[in-house]
Amino acid sequence: MARLDVTETFHNIAFPGHLHTQESLHYAVNFQFQDTDTLIVSYPKSGTTWMQQILTLLYSQGDETVSRTVPNWARAPWLEQYYFPKVLEMLKEPRIITTHLPYHLLAPVLEGSKAKVIYVARNPKDVAVSFYHFHKMANFLPDPKSFEEFLEHFLEGTVNYGSWFDHVKGWTSSGRNNLNFLYITYEEMWEDLEGSLEKISTFLHRPLMLGDMQKIQKHCTFTSMSKNPMVNYTTVDKEIMDHSKGQFMRKGKVGDWKSTFTPEQNQRFENIFSSKMKNSHLKFTWYI
Ligand code: A3P
Repeated sequence: MARLDVTETFHNIAFPGHLHTQESLHYAVNFQFQDTDTLIVSYPKSGTTWMQQILTLLYSQGDETVSRTVPNWARAPWLEQYYFPKVLEMLKEPRIITTHLPYHLLAPVLEGSKAKVIYVARNPKDVAVSFYHFHKMANFLPDPKSFEEFLEHFLEGTVNYGSWFDHVKGWTSSGRNNLNFLYITYEEMWEDLEGSLEKISTFLHRPLMLGDMQKIQKHCTFTSMSKNPMVNYTTVDKEIMDHSKGQFMRKGKVGDWKSTFTPEQNQRFENIFSSKMKNSHLKFTWYI
């Protein structure tokens, strides 16, 4: 296993050394995708685990067996993490692969591929709060100290996995027009899970049969996932994730940032957001 307490810097982005090595990161950016692959892409805390659960259930037509017996990281592994090549050998087609890597690092290997790419975005204010709490329980991430301090690093883009702004801008830049690409938000899934499942199943060319919708929905609600050890990370050693310091399935809410941000922090966030995202054509459903 890689080291717990250090970061691996790759192309000027810090990654947790517990899960990443230079070798694993090089492997990821040279990976040959198959046209049948589905790649989940997200900045951390944006609904990655939720999408892993949704895709598992969509591909099994609502059969819950895999979603209840195989941990999310083994059925939809992270491309850049050190164990990926071993887990890949066991994956059946269509393979579900996950990544937090930025677009510019994967664009060369995705170029020309027909692999399906699903990008999940979430309101960055909620991402920042969720990421802050995750830092408190995940011992492979640095001590976040106060929320004030963590927020500064988040806005500067010096946290692990790099800048949220660069991540979202990269993956939604015009380059991705050449990809087989779906953009969806956490907020959209939260407000209309059924509509989101239909959208995803259409994108995957996996029409839902009668009764599938209810079965899938049942196993990917926040309540159901909070109780499922295969997605709530309670099976992970306390040295790695300390559940006495917080829950991975923490609140699962939209707009919860309001209970943490001060009016000054919000104003500062808004100013930086407007300046960094001014040329973005993105549909930010969370501001509507
Ligand atoms: P909170 O910390 O705000 O509760 P990721 O999987 O990308 O690390 O994202 C984790 C976030 O997604 C956590 O947010 C978690 O609670 C939330 N989440 C996971 N499954 C969810 C679901 N079914 N419905 C709503 N939120 C969910």
